[in-house]
Amino acid sequence: MKSDIELITSEGKRLDGRGPEDIRKIKIEAGVLHRADGSCYLEWGGNKVLVAVYGPREAVPRHTQNPLRAIVQARYNMAAFSVEDRKRPGPDRRSVEISKVISEALEKVILTEQFPRATVNVNIEVLDAEAGTRCAGLTAAGVALIDAGIPMRDIPVAIAAGKINGQVVLDLGKEEDNFGDADLPVAISPRTGEVLLLQMDGHLTVDEFNQAFDLAVKGCHAVSEIQKKAVMHKYQAIAAEVQE
Ligand code: CDP
Repeated sequence: MKSDIELITSEGKRLDGRGPEDIRKIKIEAGVLHRADGSCYLEWGGNKVLVAVYGPREAVPRHTQNPLRAIVQARYNMAAFSVEDRKRPGPDRRSVEISKVISEALEKVILTEQFPRATVNVNIEVLDAEAGTRCAGLTAAGVALIDAGIPMRDIPVAIAAGKINGQVVLDLGKEEDNFGDADLPVAISPRTGEVLLLQMDGHLTVDEFNQAFDLAVKGCHAVSEIQKKAVMHKYQAIAAEVQE
């Protein structure tokens, strides 16, 4: 992944003008779909993601049921038109991996023990992709789960940190992801600090890893505030309608 392309200047200015710790612009809207139990539309830099949540409902076929708790099935899908070279529709190794790690992350915060034999389905559709889509999908899923009224310990949130031209930065953009030295997606439960997802692509020294991890956790807390505002915005609007 190492490259000689200048992704960050000696003054710390990145290709899109951001500083090392700046996050791309994020816009989150809760409850955008009428037929899903919960939904969320999220824009994060050039990423556009739509999430629909169904459940908890009886898991079928029945052999998939867990008598002690609900199962969480996240399905991450990249639309064919979401990337520069048209993507072949349907699941591939990458989307199966991302669906698995997101399912496991969400399972840690959803109170699954309250819904034995049930399933919670989380459909993540990436409409436009520009690096960091697993973090964008997981962050949107957190809001969609709240919108669906699914009991959770916390709203899960994610962001990636990484290394470009030897420097640790937050929230990699497309060129930084493609030509940078390392990418470290991190998801946490912001209330407890529990790590829900941690992956690494590329190489980091122990010091760099610690620095990137701390930066990602700081970034998660900043994104968490935007998530909470999106939820408040929707429910304040409903409360105002009810009062009228
Ligand atoms: O999206 P994320 O960073 O979570 O995952 P990745 O596997 O590191 O992919 C980084 C980026 O590569 C994606 O966000 C897309 O912009 C791009 N990509 C692509 O152009 N075509 C694919 N088939 C997969 C990814």
